[in-house]
Amino acid sequence: MSKIIIEPKDRVFVLTGAGISAESGLPTFRAEDGLWAGHSVEEVCTADAWVRNPEKVWLFYAERRAAGFKAKPNPAHTALAELEARLGDRFFLCTQNVDTLHEAAGSKRLVHMHGQLDRARCENECGRPPVVDNTVYTTLAEVPRCACGGRLRPHIVFFGEMPLEVEFIEEKIAASTVMVVIGTSGSVYPAAGFVNWAQRQGARTVYIGPERPLNASSFTEIVLGKAGQVLPGLFEVQ
Ligand code: APR
Repeated sequence: MSKIIIEPKDRVFVLTGAGISAESGLPTFRAEDGLWAGHSVEEVCTADAWVRNPEKVWLFYAERRAAGFKAKPNPAHTALAELEARLGDRFFLCTQNVDTLHEAAGSKRLVHMHGQLDRARCENECGRPPVVDNTVYTTLAEVPRCACGGRLRPHIVFFGEMPLEVEFIEEKIAASTVMVVIGTSGSVYPAAGFVNWAQRQGARTVYIGPERPLNASSFTEIVLGKAGQVLPGLFEVQ
């Protein structure tokens, strides 16, 4: 497998999806035995679901919390943290994942564009920032209320809601010369379109995962394999 050479002029933007956490034991969404095979998106991950049955939504994310907090970073998360340690500000990580395995591995310059499992925020968008919340709720009655009276909801971007920090992400992509996308099926936008933003400005675009994503034709290079096996030793920083 050829190395990805990072030259002194390069700035690297990495986008990760559920596949990078698969080797840590967390299921992806669209695999045959994935999360969306066992759950209805409409019942647990939409604004309507929250209004109709907030307890069902919380119980789904409580399960995700319980599994996520037990999981440990794998060699792919570690390889990205090590790359960041070498590149400093020339590295940026955007994850679609709501687990916190990148932080656990030591990543610092990152955004969670679809939210974070270890945070909750007011359902009324009253202006108070998300709070750290690691509780694995078992009933809705346990879920605290915000100072404004609204119920706390998971700090998760539901289907139909705007992903977080898209303008900031856009700036980071505009400044990058290399985009590396890892373990995402390329089916959810805007993330699936980031490769096109990078391509338009002439960046090198590499995909890493065991199967070709839906947006495969937009990449200059596809490395087929599991992230935890491919990433360690993949980058050569010059
Ligand atoms: N290493 C790398 N990639 C892997 C591995 C692995 N070990 N195992 C599986 N994959 C790949 C699969 O081939 C697939 O392309 O990970 C991808 C997972 O795709 P999805 O389940 O669609 O997950 P993702 O692309 O992250 O979903 C995007 O959709 O449901 C929403 O908000 C949720 O952030 C999520 C978004």
